[in-house]
Amino acid sequence: MRRSLRTASEPSGQARHGADMRITRRDFFSSSIVGGPVALAGVAAVEVGQRHRPIPLPEPMRLWDLATPALVVDVDQLDSNLRTMHQFYADRRASLRPHAKTHKCPVIARQQLDLGAIGIAVTKISEAEVMVEGGVGPLLITSPIATRGKLARLLALARQAPSLQIVTDRLQNVRDLNDGARAVGIRLQVIIDLNTGDDRTGIALGESAVTLADAVARAESLELVGVQAYAGRLQHVVGWEARRHQYSETMGRVMETVASMRQAGLNLPVVTGGGTGTYDINSEVDGMTDTQVGSYVFMDDNYREVGGRSGQVFDDFEPSLFVLATAISQPVEGRITVDAGYKAFATDKEPPRLRDIRGVTYQFGGDEHGILELTDPSEPITVGDKVRLTIPHCDPTVNLYDHLHAVRGEDVLEVWPIAGRGRSQ
Ligand SMILES: Cc1ncc(COP(=O)(O)O)c(C=O)c1O
Repeated sequence: MRRSLRTASEPSGQARHGADMRITRRDFFSSSIVGGPVALAGVAAVEVGQRHRPIPLPEPMRLWDLATPALVVDVDQLDSNLRTMHQFYADRRASLRPHAKTHKCPVIARQQLDLGAIGIAVTKISEAEVMVEGGVGPLLITSPIATRGKLARLLALARQAPSLQIVTDRLQNVRDLNDGARAVGIRLQVIIDLNTGDDRTGIALGESAVTLADAVARAESLELVGVQAYAGRLQHVVGWEARRHQYSETMGRVMETVASMRQAGLNLPVVTGGGTGTYDINSEVDGMTDTQVGSYVFMDDNYREVGGRSGQVFDDFEPSLFVLATAISQPVEGRITVDAGYKAFATDKEPPRLRDIRGVTYQFGGDEHGILELTDPSEPITVGDKVRLTIPHCDPTVNLYDHLHAVRGEDVLEVWPIAGRGRSQ
């Protein structure tokens, strides 16, 4: 991309709209204030229930015409990330089970399945409901459920989608799942969630895990499918060698438990785990059957910093996601305010950066505002200009938006509903 910011009165925008449809700077401002055609198209489509398919644009649009803040995905970079990952796994023993917690978008889940993923992982029952509605599956829910209400939803969903799988990490939960499945007349597929050291969910490795797996295998309305060994803290260990070392050591202990389960006569076709940070490590762990990669689709600033096999930047996948923001006010010299603040980015990591302009730093300026410090900008930024900002942490940022704007270069192609946005129940 040659230029990082553009006002609507510049030639490229005019060319797209034709001579008789030239938009002036004033028209541009009014159209962005009322939301613009893309925002309206999105709302209309959601109202008629098209939450799972791309929404076509009513008229051609340029990136710079979008109402901001807008979440934008570069479709070529996304496609390259998807293909890189899927090609890597094409001749590996392990398979891919991408995690949809990152994108929450059935359109992207379908692209992953089309490229050969064996299924899609989701974290919550409500995400699973959205994916089933969108015809996405088979699904694995990677977090246990613990209430009657969620159990009822799980059972209803499993009746609709018999390939649905759920993890468990407690004996009482196994009894509840079995009673529920029996009551509705289904055989529910269950995976044992192991605590690999994150101490987040999962049963301790060793004897108690074997007992739990045995209980699932004996339960008449449950089918034991395998184990999940996700190690979240190890995805972000800085330095590929250090990551590999710690991950291999942990998975070695996991495989001892898996071996004990098999010695007890249990059938475990699935051993699932891993993520983007260990995609090329998990694939080499003997006995792992699939990898639950999530962030690779978009990548984010935080992940890049953990380092890759060949250097200090983890650049096997490149950022495909950014937030488009508009400079809206310049109360003092040397700084300019954009319309994207805490409500536009997850704030648990470092602040975003300008994607295209050097010599400018972003700091949060409140819920709706960001302040750009114009230290030594490589391009001028004035009120009305748009800038692209990087994503510090992709998953929780995506969850702040209803739509992904799919762009190629400077053309907006389609709008993809983030159907799972806000589905954290
Ligand atoms: C259970 C589980 N699997 C897979 C992932 C995907 O991880 P990543 O985004 O690092 O690829 C996550 C992310 O938090 C997760 O919780």
